[in-house]
Amino acid sequence: MEPYSREHQIERNDIANAGTIASLTKRALKKRGLSREFIKQVTIGVYEAEINVVIHSYGGKASVEITDDFAEITFEDVGPGIENIEQALTAGYSTASSYAIENGFGAGMGLPNIQAVSDEMDLQSSTDGTYLRIKFNITEDAYEH
Ligand SMILES: Nc1ncnc2c1ncn2[C@@H]1O[C@H](COP(=O)(O)OP(=O)(O)OP(=O)(O)O)[C@@H](O)[C@H]1O
Ligand SMILES: [Mg+2]
Repeated sequence: MEPYSREHQIERNDIANAGTIASLTKRALKKRGLSREFIKQVTIGVYEAEINVVIHSYGGKASVEITDDFAEITFEDVGPGIENIEQALTAGYSTASSYAIENGFGAGMGLPNIQAVSDEMDLQSSTDGTYLRIKFNITEDAYEH
């Protein structure tokens, strides 16, 4: 099937629109006949990453690429960055603002879940911002059968 490629902007604190990229990606995956389970894993990963840009950065962008072999999503933001990546990947660690907590975020489970669902995860951060690339391999098992 033809590759799918999209770019999206992500606005700071725009919780109302957070989840849009996950929804659009989910729709694109459904059209390719991929299994509910595979789609669920990708959707969880994209949603958590998208929310993180919304609530922890000053804004950024995402690029989504789907081929017959993989789904790869890259997030790049401008922001304070992550001081200690190992700590950030620890379940329960969170620096979420009161605004984020009031909206139901801040359990410190996003990054651990992204790591659990993805086949590859590349997370880099500096005081200028954060880069996250997640990849999901599409094999025979990823199709509905
Ligand atoms: N894009 C980002 N920019 C800056 N800091 C980030 C970013 N993503 C994650 N972090 C840091 O890593 C921590 C852990 O992220 P994680 O997604 O696991 O938890 P959370 O977002 O705080 O809570 P939850 O995801 O459960 O709602 C965050 O609290 C924040 O300190
Ligand atoms: Mg999170």
